[in-house]
Amino acid sequence: MTRRRTRSPAAVPGTTPPRRPEPATGPTVPGTAPLARTAAQAARRPTARVSDAREFGRVAVLMGGNSSEREVSLNSGSNVLAALRARGVDAHAVDGIPALIEQLAQRRFDRVFNILHGGDGENGVVQGLMQALGVPYTGSGVLGSALTLDKIRTKQVWLALGLPTPRYARLERGADVLAAAREIGLPLIVKPSCEGSSVGVSRVFEAEDLPEAVELAGRYPGELLMEQLVVGEDYTVGILGDVALPSIRIVPAGEYYDYHAKYLAEDTQYICPGLEGAAEEQALELSLNAFQASGCSGWGRVDLMRDRSGRLFLLEVNTTPGMTSHSLVPKAARQIGIEFEELVWLLLETSLPPAGSTP
Ligand SMILES: Nc1ncnc2c1ncn2[C@@H]1O[C@H](COP(=O)(O)OP(=O)(O)O)[C@@H](O)[C@H]1O
Ligand SMILES: [Mg+2]
Repeated sequence: MTRRRTRSPAAVPGTTPPRRPEPATGPTVPGTAPLARTAAQAARRPTARVSDAREFGRVAVLMGGNSSEREVSLNSGSNVLAALRARGVDAHAVDGIPALIEQLAQRRFDRVFNILHGGDGENGVVQGLMQALGVPYTGSGVLGSALTLDKIRTKQVWLALGLPTPRYARLERGADVLAAAREIGLPLIVKPSCEGSSVGVSRVFEAEDLPEAVELAGRYPGELLMEQLVVGEDYTVGILGDVALPSIRIVPAGEYYDYHAKYLAEDTQYICPGLEGAAEEQALELSLNAFQASGCSGWGRVDLMRDRSGRLFLLEVNTTPGMTSHSLVPKAARQIGIEFEELVWLLLETSLPPAGSTP
């Protein structure tokens, strides 16, 4: 079990959480948790627009697939499926894109809850397919999905807009890595531009360790990203609609949030909210801006770092983050009183046209 240090609303000393006011925009989902911690959080708490599960029609929960994250996706998908069914949604598992194509050709589904992680599930390919077939789906569209699967190009957009992200170099195969490292300065970090889960990532403190880091990242397809190492803390911010959820500070027991700390270690700590007051507001605002600037919508998660002087640096956006019992978006949602089932309902609502738009 991962040790968790998320505080429940009731555990905050000296505060009596206010009852969440009735939402102005629509009905609540039956059985939702009514508490939010502060007035600011209450204002930020997304509320349901749909009250009757039948309005969603028949829903495909797209999971599994053939990416390296297949197992995690199956885990996320079975949680999502169970939550939707518990709320009366006519939801069914579909494993992978070929199976989805077959089912959609027979018009078996009215919408898709996409919980494929990585690969064609997260890079715009399946989004383009559903778009072309006119089938509504959860999460980001083609542009946001495709852009953010590529860390280098996402950074280029952020930099053009003046959003903070670590200094970087794009390494093509056979590039002069020493020259690039001189430009960035040590310490630095080398990572594949289009992978996730911290695979192929190494930190480099001495020039002599550079070739090994480049070789490791080079085992994965696509370009390599060399980035200035931010010495500080890891944060992640979940996005739900146009709301940034409370930040989570990730405290790995080891040196940084590598593959081991993410999936294997039992002693990684997750602190939510990760920051307080103005620093928290700043992190949420930056994350939401970065998410929207990358063409993303619906829901997702923004990873960032904060250096010792409090400066924030954007790292990347995940457009279909994990939805397992240990996942971070559910943890952040819980902090403002949104339990897993309601969260899944709200995520399914991201497949609807935006509120106020004409059908
Ligand atoms: N520029 C950086 N400075 C310091 N640590 C970094 C930097 N980039 C990545 N990391 C560390 O590596 C982890 C994974 O990097 P990230 O860019 O989020 O890629 P992914 O999660 O897709 O593998 C981060 O959570 C952080 O701990
Ligand atoms: Mg990350």
